[in-house]
Amino acid sequence: MGIWILNGLTVDVNNVQAKKHILIENDKIAQVVDAASGSTPQTEGHEVIDAAGKLVTPGFIDMHVHLREPGFEHKENIATGTRSAARGGFTTIACMPNTRPVIDTVDTVNYILDKAATEGVIRVIPYGTITKNQLGRELTDFAALKEAGVIGYTDDGVGVQSAQMMKDAMALAASMDMPIIAHCEDDTLVVGAPVSEGSFAKKHGLKGIPNESEAIHVGRDILLSEATGVHYHVCHVSTEQSVRLIRHAKQFGIKVTAEVCPHHLVLSDEDIPGLDANWKMNPPLRTPRDVQAVIEGLEDGTIDIIVTDHAPHSEEEKAKGMMLAPFGILGFETAFSLLYTKFVLTGQWTLGFLVDRMTQKPADVFGLPYGTLEVGRAADITIVDLETEREVLKDEIVSRSKNTPFIGWKLQGWPVVTIASGKVVWS
Ligand code: DOR
Ligand code: ZN
Ligand code: ZN
Repeated sequence: MGIWILNGLTVDVNNVQAKKHILIENDKIAQVVDAASGSTPQTEGHEVIDAAGKLVTPGFIDMHVHLREPGFEHKENIATGTRSAARGGFTTIACMPNTRPVIDTVDTVNYILDKAATEGVIRVIPYGTITKNQLGRELTDFAALKEAGVIGYTDDGVGVQSAQMMKDAMALAASMDMPIIAHCEDDTLVVGAPVSEGSFAKKHGLKGIPNESEAIHVGRDILLSEATGVHYHVCHVSTEQSVRLIRHAKQFGIKVTAEVCPHHLVLSDEDIPGLDANWKMNPPLRTPRDVQAVIEGLEDGTIDIIVTDHAPHSEEEKAKGMMLAPFGILGFETAFSLLYTKFVLTGQWTLGFLVDRMTQKPADVFGLPYGTLEVGRAADITIVDLETEREVLKDEIVSRSKNTPFIGWKLQGWPVVTIASGKVVWS
């Protein structure tokens, strides 16, 4: 018995929209039928999902998430994190290695893959660290980690401070045809600052994180990528300067790709209402000028994909205030509706553009066979209600943590059914 999804609206990158019927059998897409042809499929013996009036897309792909397991299960674990992702319409997520222990050994990769297979509800692909224990001193065993199933190397959470270490990492990754994914942050420029340099920091007498702390690493790493030939992927781009550097590098044919988070596209430091740590993340909310620059960067292809940087922290931790609370906010459950409401409903982006940057494009950047509704591919499908406006309610958050600045926001574009490898995992 399979599942027929009937009369859903599909959209491609050029925003060409078509009504389709889709049959899922086992864990694959078995048939895609143009509904305009008028012929209704034989649904007897199959489950039927009526998707009339709803968007049917490939399941969303999030290449930057923190699941916190092992080590920080009070914030999130693989079971709760994958369910939170499923609620947000995601069917493939790539988890960052700043767990405890960090993902720097084959054993830890195996632990995560086993947990994801037994307790997770969607596909989880781990990253391995660049350096042992993320200390920036010694490279991990890239070959062994690759063999175990990591999709790339990153010390996300911290920047790799030594240029020589980064160059060695890139040379090794290039020789194995693997990407380096970088959290760009120069530690000497940020000490003790909880928010960005800007009007909010000034008003509250806080030290600010300057844009250069990010862009210096972006510039350095672009040069190292050119020297080593590695695929270099820039995490959570937040500054005008980084966008400029990446744009320039791409013009030179350097193998650089980049990602941006919803919060950096819709919020600036001027939106921070007060000293509430649910507005604290790293990189921080920047100035309106930076927000404009990352939007333009995404629109012109300088920035390739959208990721959430889903970073759960407990209420106790976030209650410590702006200075002491850890950096990070939730991402999964509001990503699509936020961007749909702010950019598609306003006419700035097409629906096809938004969907592409959360499905096919991330798959392309990382060479994954997902993010498409082609027959024969994994049945990863998300059905989205584009009509209903709903308030973001704290009580409805599926993540174990609740640290989001978007509670109370009224948004449109809510995933209502998420199907991962042919199984309904959210409805
Ligand atoms: O805001 C952030 N949270 N930025 C990071 O780089 C790390 C992440 C986390 O692990 O909480
Ligand atoms: Zn990061
Ligand atoms: Zn991160």
